[in-house]
Amino acid sequence: MGSLLVLVGVCFLVVWLHHYSVDSQTTGLSGIVVDGSVFINGSASIASIDDDFICATLDYGPPDVCHQGTCWGNATLFTLDLSNPILLNAIKAFSPLKIRMGGTLQDKLIYHVQGDEGPCKPQSIDGLEFLGFSQGCLPMSRWDELNEFFKRAGAIVTFGLNALYGRTVNSDGSVHGPWDSSNAEILLRYTVNKGYTIHGWELGNELSGQGIGARISAQQYASDIKTLQNLLDDIYGGFEVKPLILAPGGFFDANWFKDFVDHTTQMFQVVTHHVYSLGAGYDDNLISRILDPSYLNGMAQTFSSLGSILKNSGTSAVAWVGEAGGAYGGGHHLVTDAFVSSFWYLDQLAMAATYNTKTYCRQTLIGGGYGLLNSSTFQPNPDYYSALLWHRLIGNNVLFTNFTGTNKLRAYSHCSKNSTGVTLLLINLDGNTTAQVHVSAEDSAGNGTLILQPQIRSRKSKFSRISKGLIFDANIREEYHLTAKDRDLHSQVTLLNGKILSVDSSGNIPALNPIKVRMSDPILVASFSVVFARFPSMNVTACR
Ligand SMILES: *[C@@H]1O[C@H](CO)[C@@H](O)[C@H](O)[C@H]1NC(C)=O
Ligand SMILES: *[C@@H]1O[C@H](CO)[C@@H](O)[C@H](O)[C@H]1NC(C)=O
Ligand SMILES: *[C@@H]1O[C@H](CO)[C@@H](O)[C@H](O)[C@H]1NC(C)=O
Ligand SMILES: *[C@@H]1O[C@H](CO)[C@@H](O)[C@H](O)[C@H]1NC(C)=O
Ligand SMILES: *[C@@H]1O[C@H](CO)[C@@H](O)[C@H](O)[C@H]1NC(C)=O
Ligand SMILES: *[C@@H]1O[C@H](CO)[C@@H](O)[C@H](O)[C@H]1NC(C)=O
Ligand SMILES: *[C@@H]1O[C@H](CO)[C@@H](O)[C@H](O)[C@H]1NC(C)=O
Ligand SMILES: *[C@@H]1O[C@H](CO)[C@@H](O)[C@H](O)[C@H]1NC(C)=O
Repeated sequence: MGSLLVLVGVCFLVVWLHHYSVDSQTTGLSGIVVDGSVFINGSASIASIDDDFICATLDYGPPDVCHQGTCWGNATLFTLDLSNPILLNAIKAFSPLKIRMGGTLQDKLIYHVQGDEGPCKPQSIDGLEFLGFSQGCLPMSRWDELNEFFKRAGAIVTFGLNALYGRTVNSDGSVHGPWDSSNAEILLRYTVNKGYTIHGWELGNELSGQGIGARISAQQYASDIKTLQNLLDDIYGGFEVKPLILAPGGFFDANWFKDFVDHTTQMFQVVTHHVYSLGAGYDDNLISRILDPSYLNGMAQTFSSLGSILKNSGTSAVAWVGEAGGAYGGGHHLVTDAFVSSFWYLDQLAMAATYNTKTYCRQTLIGGGYGLLNSSTFQPNPDYYSALLWHRLIGNNVLFTNFTGTNKLRAYSHCSKNSTGVTLLLINLDGNTTAQVHVSAEDSAGNGTLILQPQIRSRKSKFSRISKGLIFDANIREEYHLTAKDRDLHSQVTLLNGKILSVDSSGNIPALNPIKVRMSDPILVASFSVVFARFPSMNVTACR
């Protein structure tokens, strides 16, 4: 009996592989096929995100710091080559990309304006000032270059101010007394006089809760925010659109965050928190965590808890992930900058969105072992393309989505961006099985349950593709399949629908084109792959 089943299984596999060999090139299909069902509730959205939800960070380094062989070098705010054409195109491709400037060293940075005496140098490792680094200095000539570059690239930028300026960090890490805003005021006035647009000013980096190297009490922090508010009211007095105020840019700590939010006023807009859910970059178990569904689910607790604090406090402030690089301490080369990284990254983007996070900033756009771009060649790493696809396809409204079948398949859906209908994100964390996914959606406000695919299918029609060139058709959906080159999770090369993605010799970002698939066919999600599927005709109430 057992051997008969095996035999039947093998025959099926042979027939199947034979029949669909053309498609396997596109979708990366292999091995065993398991069925599963996605259910989407299209009646109402459960959360919403910003249009420019995708954000990436630029850090200070410093240039001479290295982690596991990856050095910041020329990939810091001080040293980045702003004339690189790939860098410009990579940002422009989002039109716009949100960029957060900040990081560990921002709090000990002095803004050097005209008339200041003495040298103005980036931080270095001399062990004297803060966390083993020297005090640093940002010359206004570099500030000019950065702002001119971001304007050209069409980026929307936030900047982290020096919350430790003029303050003493006690040996136990505590910091008492108020923020000295005088140096920040000079930068703010300079920025406004120059006509640079800053979308938001953030105060401090990782000084909340227990703090990294230093900590400030929630009530003192709320009072410092008031200081910043008054300063911005004064400096941006005549402006129609005032910049956002963001804080505290630290790790979530329920008591501290609650205390902080309770002490801020209605004027305070964005609560930023940092996420490094995979642990330390030097850890050898990063990949097993990335591929473990229950590990990935662990982050929901933080998003949910912060969501409750905001809801219960009555504040109008919203949550952003202000910095998230997967693994802290610089990430891990060939993990957090390789194909496998897209599994945690896309999963966490989607999970954060489910809990009403408005923006999610990835550490980093470039620099460290977690860059979206390679810090020497500027070539996009796999997560860059994942972020760009998300940005182009995933709209504001989040829909309740669940998956019945293997727990290695992650499913999320939103209303489509810039199109009618719904876009589904599917992530297959399993290395041996292809998931065959059937989709159904409910729209109680409209027509009840819409079954988009027959549950009993004829195998013959299963993978048939519609030939290219067919225009919009209610019976067609679009699919984007991402797989690793040579099916190697450590690869820094991504395939979209079977074709390598890379910039051309002029540094242009490649087009991201879908394949068109018949609506009645199930979605095939190859082992270790990601699929975005866009259903233009899934015209549900939440997406009208
Ligand atoms: C779908 O969402 C609507 C509106 O929130 C709700 O009334 C309905 O019960 C949901 N359906 C299911 C099956 O969860
Ligand atoms: C950084 O850029 C400078 C100037 O272009 C160059 O001299 C230096 O070699 C670069 N450093 C690294 C580590 O690439
Ligand atoms: C950048 O790309 C080059 C060429 O593919 C590769 O050898 C190098 O390891 C990459 N560097 C990083 C930091 O990913
Ligand atoms: C998915 O949601 C539907 C509607 O609420 C429910 O009937 C079904 O049991 C859920 N499935 C899972 C696996 O949670
Ligand atoms: C929206 O879709 C249209 C038509 O498909 C396309 O030309 C345009 O570039 C898209 N806009 C964005 C922001 O993706
Ligand atoms: C596939 O399954 C085999 C047998 O269980 C196992 O040895 C192998 O590690 C699996 N491969 C992946 C990529 O999960
Ligand atoms: C509801 O279903 C009926 C019958 O299938 C169809 O004629 C009608 O157009 C549908 N209405 C909407 C709003 O989808
Ligand atoms: C979606 O459905 C609504 C209500 O039935 C209808 O008014 C609208 O035209 C539909 N939109 C598309 C693009 O089919």
